[in-house]
Amino acid sequence: MEEVIKIEGGHKLHGTVRISGSKNATVALIPAAILANGPVTICGVPQISDVNSLSELLKDLGVEVILKGDDILIIDPSNMTNRPMVQEAVTKLRASYYFMGALLGKYGHVEMKMPGGCYLGPRPIDLHLKGFEALGADVRYEHGTYIIDAKELTGNKIFLDISSVGATINIMMAAVYAKGRTTIENAAKEPEIIDVATLLNKMGAKIRGVGTNVITIDGVDHLDGCFHEIIPDRIEAATYLVLAAAAANEVIVENIIPQHLESLLSKLDEIGIQMEVGIDHVKIIGGSHTLQATDIKTLPYPGFATDIQQPLTALLTQAKGQSIITETIYTERFKHCMELNKMGANINVMTPSAMINGPTALTGCDVVATDLRCGACLVIAGLLAEGVTTIYEIYHIDRGYDNLDGKLTALGAKIWRETIH
Ligand code: EPU
Repeated sequence: MEEVIKIEGGHKLHGTVRISGSKNATVALIPAAILANGPVTICGVPQISDVNSLSELLKDLGVEVILKGDDILIIDPSNMTNRPMVQEAVTKLRASYYFMGALLGKYGHVEMKMPGGCYLGPRPIDLHLKGFEALGADVRYEHGTYIIDAKELTGNKIFLDISSVGATINIMMAAVYAKGRTTIENAAKEPEIIDVATLLNKMGAKIRGVGTNVITIDGVDHLDGCFHEIIPDRIEAATYLVLAAAAANEVIVENIIPQHLESLLSKLDEIGIQMEVGIDHVKIIGGSHTLQATDIKTLPYPGFATDIQQPLTALLTQAKGQSIITETIYTERFKHCMELNKMGANINVMTPSAMINGPTALTGCDVVATDLRCGACLVIAGLLAEGVTTIYEIYHIDRGYDNLDGKLTALGAKIWRETIH
């Protein structure tokens, strides 16, 4: 038995869609909350399965978790106990690794299975571990489990060989209680990192420089509970902007921070999409004008996000000429191209690039969401295609898109779920 998503393509979309809180911020904010000594209230939590998996992990640690209304999560770690994290839920998502930094910071001891998540090619965590070691921890890997110990964590200067989002956040969390000052050089600058530092600072941490490539953390000995509202999801926003560019008469994407989306907005402009950018929304005006091919190179923020190249590929199948996407973050992140080719696209992948020759008409068929953003790409392709597209392995999509079917149905899409045997 498997649940699939079906989409009947060819219906023009119109209306307004509201973007939820950022998935990639949420999955770090939830583990960060255990560093507090009282309840942390997080507002704007998206309803996605990654949040359910993390809540399960919190409960296993004895943390009280209350969901209030649709999107308020109250996390109270007052009575938690540090237990080995070896459950299945750890392997369901990559972000369970944020419990490493948080537990190490709070207790000086972590036991954790290897985290899972989307397969995008090799995704090592060596930089996280090197950071923990630089703070004085001892890291071992035995029988599929990481064991990280520290008698005392002491601030240090840490240069990241690659400006990794995960390593930056994880080291920040481990360092909040460390003695003295930690400096992370070549730190990543993604908005989600700023959001996590904002939460930690509200709790009483002393983190400066987030959003630049040098972050300093002065250790403190106590953190309190607090209230925090999550930033809007720039990748969900990008998905709806691309989807609107592909299939809308007129769609407003609201509750966004347009500054977080500048690299995408400038590409949409180059492709020939008409839009109006407001303070917290973007209006996409569709039409029958010819779309132009463009080249993209994925880069760390504020460059073009790797998470957006997959959804954008669906739109580029409709552009005139050859578009080249070069992936510098995850060189194997091209499985969506094979699925698009099944639907009639003409894409050649020569790692680390994909050459998209357009425009090509797309036809509905059976496709597989091999990872989260591949799923988003196939939803967009399904909206564009003639006939019905059936998407398999949709648990990937449900990991990261809040109420996808409801939001699309409200815009006039024909999308539904079926259970097949
Ligand atoms: N890297 C290493 N060693 C490390 C860590 C990273 O070599 O210890 C490499 C990675 O292999 C990759 C590059 O550094 O080539 C960047 O990886 P990064 O650590 O920044 O990625 P991440 O923190 O694991 C987050 C997002 C991803 C997003 C990337 C890049 C979360 C939970 N995940 O992953 O989001 O693609 O940053 O921006 O925040 C998604 O949302 O679909 C998704 C995969």
